[in-house]
Amino acid sequence: MQPFFTEVSRPLGLQEEIAKRKTFGIVSHPDAGKTTLTEKLLLFGGAIQIAGAVKSNKIKKHATSDFMEIEKQRGISVATSVMAFEYRDYKVNILDTPGHKDFAEDTYRTLTAVDSAIVVIDVAKGVEEQTEKLVEVCRMRNTPMIVFINKLDREGKDGFDLLDEIEEKLKLKVCPLSWPVGMGQDFQGVFNIYSDELKLFRAHSKQDEEDTFLLKDLASEELTQQVGDRAAASLREDVEMVQEVYPAFDREAYLAGQQSPVFFGSAINNFGVKELLDCFVDIAPNPLPRTTEQREIEPGEKKFTGFVFKIHANMDPKHRDRLAFLRVCSGIFERNTNYYHVRQDKKMKFSNPTAFMASRKEVIEAAYPGDIVGLYDSGNFKIGDGLTEGETLHFQGIPSFSPELFRYVVNRDPMKSKQLNKGIDQLMDEGVAQLFTKEDNARKIIGTVGQLQFEVIKYRLKGEYGASCDFEALQMYKACWIEGDDKDISEFVRLRKRNVARDKEGRFVYMAESAWMLKTVQDNHPELKFHFTSEF
Ligand code: G4P
Repeated sequence: MQPFFTEVSRPLGLQEEIAKRKTFGIVSHPDAGKTTLTEKLLLFGGAIQIAGAVKSNKIKKHATSDFMEIEKQRGISVATSVMAFEYRDYKVNILDTPGHKDFAEDTYRTLTAVDSAIVVIDVAKGVEEQTEKLVEVCRMRNTPMIVFINKLDREGKDGFDLLDEIEEKLKLKVCPLSWPVGMGQDFQGVFNIYSDELKLFRAHSKQDEEDTFLLKDLASEELTQQVGDRAAASLREDVEMVQEVYPAFDREAYLAGQQSPVFFGSAINNFGVKELLDCFVDIAPNPLPRTTEQREIEPGEKKFTGFVFKIHANMDPKHRDRLAFLRVCSGIFERNTNYYHVRQDKKMKFSNPTAFMASRKEVIEAAYPGDIVGLYDSGNFKIGDGLTEGETLHFQGIPSFSPELFRYVVNRDPMKSKQLNKGIDQLMDEGVAQLFTKEDNARKIIGTVGQLQFEVIKYRLKGEYGASCDFEALQMYKACWIEGDDKDISEFVRLRKRNVARDKEGRFVYMAESAWMLKTVQDNHPELKFHFTSEF
């Protein structure tokens, strides 16, 4: 009998693992097609095989986490989840972000854990409000962005008009890497400027090779044969114009967040998605360094470091378990290994760290920079916490943003004050909303991005902590973090106690009742600066 040999593949080194990884997020206004695009990308990676389910969009309900009861009830993706898949030689981590605007803060934080982003825009609607906000957050951190203009199978705005709108509203310098041939009823395909290929549109395409033509020269007869005289002439004209008006693709500029490649396609028809993915894995950055108060961390450093950017609560209502999402920043995270929890100054080890492969979770032995690990947590973590091999590092770049809505918390059941306080405390640690405590009377104010969060808080306080609360209306414009000399801040606090509160970290915040009040205070206190984010 022949001896049986199994080929043991050589484990990759840290640098090779880093070079394989691309960690990104998809941002869009709701309904632009983020979920659909995510599903198609997962299909390419073989992470899901249920094509039928994708078509009927059923997997949408599973592809994103729906740990929270409320999410099921409302059908809104409250949660953020992570999906990993392999494509070509790469390991791609998609960090899904809730599109609903009331959960924007969640999305902002998730964007601190990505290295690049894909921005999805609906060709008919153009740049929408939520896209503007999210792109602004990406721009704050110079996150490289690729734009995908979706739904070309429908009538929409003219390509050049859209690019103008993107440049103007999103303040992105664009560089089209593909261009559509027609649109809506007349949509015939896209010409890939990046690879000189013409791809003809077939509804629900399976990416058949025959549909793609290499067209080194747009003047060639073949173009006319494929799409007809008029469309060929118009494409030639458009591409000439693109090449005249827009700069050539410059990877350095893209990586610096100064240039955004643009692709056109139709996610639901799986059209233009492969081109996007191929280009993405070619150009998107590998895991990037992260900044801490102490120093910059390079992914290739031997020692492990990572930070928590999201906490997911109550997957099982019977256990008050939480799942902390940790982004690995450097070194190798290993199961059952002692790590240092910097804020709590204690060692912790994790026996069941999980990775996320599409809708399934699995226990992992090791994770590398760029990877997201789920850590079961019984209340040890807060957003922004760092884990290291012993070094004291405080991660930066996970700011709080000023909420939009503010309400006083009113306890409805005095017998349950303790539960209420504990519940609020823990929900704030998870980043569900922000808590401010007024300096003059110690009343608690909860600030959120949207109305829905107040309902989530109420629902969860009742369900998980047995506490009842109400919210009392409060006229408030913005919470402004104060920057200045300690002496000047103390004097300001003394003078304006009624409008000053402390955030959860004990930092002073000026609670501006109106834009006009803020302006007045700014004029009267030139020695101080007022910021809408906690990091400045
Ligand atoms: P989101 O995650 O950004 O909120 O968007 P989602 O993918 O859920 O897509 C929103 C709607 O747009 C869905 O239709 C989806 O089928 C549709 N859609 C996505 N990509 C395309 C495209 O390329 N062309 C066209 N014509 N439609 C697209 P729905 O009717 O709201 O939901 P469903 O009934 O299809 O699930």
